[in-house]
Amino acid sequence: MTVLDLGCGAGVPCTQLLASQPNIHVTGCDISSTQLALAAEKLPAGKVKLIQSDMMNLEFADSTFDVVVAFYSIIHVPRGEQPILLKRIGKWLKPGGWFLSNFLAEGEDTVVEQKWLGEEKGWMFWSGWSPDRSAAMVEETGLELRINEATGTVERDALNAGIITVPHLWVLAQKSEEEQ
Ligand SMILES: C[S@@+](CC[C@H](N)C(=O)[O-])C[C@H]1O[C@@H](n2cnc3c(N)ncnc32)[C@H](O)[C@@H]1O
Repeated sequence: MTVLDLGCGAGVPCTQLLASQPNIHVTGCDISSTQLALAAEKLPAGKVKLIQSDMMNLEFADSTFDVVVAFYSIIHVPRGEQPILLKRIGKWLKPGGWFLSNFLAEGEDTVVEQKWLGEEKGWMFWSGWSPDRSAAMVEETGLELRINEATGTVERDALNAGIITVPHLWVLAQKSEEEQ
């Protein structure tokens, strides 16, 4: 089984978990060379193909992957580019393939924090459509929505040294078994 992990980051735990399965071949993409260097240390050599690229610049043949996942990464792509990316993902998937990702729970063209997690060099950018628009964007690629659910992710709140719950829209969608 072939899996594309978009914005795989340091690969822990998701890419690592995928790569631990004997029948899964993972391709991980991230824009950050620092994150990919960490991933290369932690992931089994030869089991994962790592690509340093903006996910918007990726090119694959149609029907390359059984699964495409993007955990907390498409939310960093400007929302005007997200429908273009989703259409490409739809083509990269094999018939019957699966797409799992999350989107912002509220539509925001641009959210910027200068010192995310209190870091001096912590510039961070998020973008997304309303949950309804994001769900429609997935369906417009021809994928069928199987799960479309707003749910919270528990995160460390570095500024207040506490725990916060951040809502996201989670989407699981499947490409039709029949060739389009
Ligand atoms: C919040 S982290 C999530 C990492 C990993 N998916 C996880 O769940 O632990 C977001 C990742 O997306 C990457 N990223 C952001 N924009 C990207 C882009 N346009 N293309 C590829 N990767 C991107 C970042 O470098 C970062 O590693």
